[in-house]
Amino acid sequence: MDNAIYKSRRVNLTEDLPNNSVLLIPGADTQYRNADSAYAFRQDSNFYYLSGFCEPDSLMVIVNNNDGINSLIFVPPKDKLKEIWDGYRAGPEGAVQDYLFDKAYDNSEIDKMLPEILFGCDQVLYPIGKKNGFDQKVIDWTTEAGNKDRHSKSINILDASSIIGNARLIKDDHEISLIKKACDISAEAHIEAMKNVKDEESEQAIESMYVHEFSKRGGRFTAYTPIVASGENACVLHYIENNKKLNKKDLLLVDAGCEYEMYASDITRTYPIGGKFSKEQLEIYNIVLEAMNAAIDKVKVGNNIMEPQEISEKIITNGLVKLGLLQGDPEELHQKGAYKDFYMHKIGHWLGLDVHDAGDYMEGDNFMEFKPGMITTIEPGIYISNAMDVDDKWKGIGVRIEDDILVTRDGNENLTKKVPSDPAEIESLMS
Ligand code: GLY
Ligand code: MN
Ligand code: MN
Repeated sequence: MDNAIYKSRRVNLTEDLPNNSVLLIPGADTQYRNADSAYAFRQDSNFYYLSGFCEPDSLMVIVNNNDGINSLIFVPPKDKLKEIWDGYRAGPEGAVQDYLFDKAYDNSEIDKMLPEILFGCDQVLYPIGKKNGFDQKVIDWTTEAGNKDRHSKSINILDASSIIGNARLIKDDHEISLIKKACDISAEAHIEAMKNVKDEESEQAIESMYVHEFSKRGGRFTAYTPIVASGENACVLHYIENNKKLNKKDLLLVDAGCEYEMYASDITRTYPIGGKFSKEQLEIYNIVLEAMNAAIDKVKVGNNIMEPQEISEKIITNGLVKLGLLQGDPEELHQKGAYKDFYMHKIGHWLGLDVHDAGDYMEGDNFMEFKPGMITTIEPGIYISNAMDVDDKWKGIGVRIEDDILVTRDGNENLTKKVPSDPAEIESLMS
């Protein structure tokens, strides 16, 4: 593995650091499902982005001062017995040799060394509020550093989330190739599920099909808990119970994407469990699809993130008026936000190491403009729950379609278009 890429990200990031500052990035800790049964370890995304290092209980420190730039890392020490139980550890020596840090130390040294490292700096930056207990540690180390000499300048604590997030917002070629692979695997799983849903009885069986299709292609983990929502369950936006029996008359909304080598994909398709859309299902579906296609066209350099949002709201408002689900002038209804009863979430989010990836949505007072290398989801939807005051024929219809869109120099590339969203293509795949 070529770890030079992580080193070059550290070097690039330091251009955004204030003079005489120290950046701290904590790694993830082991998480437990119950008692001492651990989940497979998942490194913190910021930490991984800048190190490629996948051991728990580690801390990265980037010092930008008169001595230049130095990246240090604190890692678990070599330990014969622990390595027999839990596997190989690089140790400080391996962290320098294989991960190209300037210096590395045993993580038991953190509390002793951090006040010394912070002493004399003007600013300490770290992602504020992201890791349990870490805020207090930074305050303690900073206070101790300040107490070393009461006549020294005070040290300011700043949030590093935007600095790191905005670096992560523009994906490099290495990242794009991994995200493409994640998208391909997820698209193939959706295709397999569409082909086979008619033989399945429950949401849970469909969920297991996705997990299996991801895993056998190398995507062992899902990028988020899949949403497998039949009928009205689709109107619960974060439905993850995934345990109801399937009814052939219903639509099935599946929002499922794998993680591949730490990178996420995020696809939603909505398809008829029995293989054919009903008239009403198709009418709603076609509005969402029109909103989807128009929104994707707006993802291009020079446009900002509100442009796909706005066009999707307008198309959905118009469509709902045509079907009699909203009454009034479409323009006025849009202004009033009447569509929000049916389409209550935003059009999308950044995608990368995290499914809801790091990176700002505003630049100063303006909405973020699309730039080459950004990846956003586009995911409009219409949700009509049984509780809504509409004709019964519409109730229980929930539709979302979601693709992952890479901004290119001259437009965009839909990374998940392999899985059909056209209703005729879906029906033909399912037949
Ligand atoms: N799968 C989570 C989302 O679409 O935002
Ligand atoms: Mn999404
Ligand atoms: Mn999704």
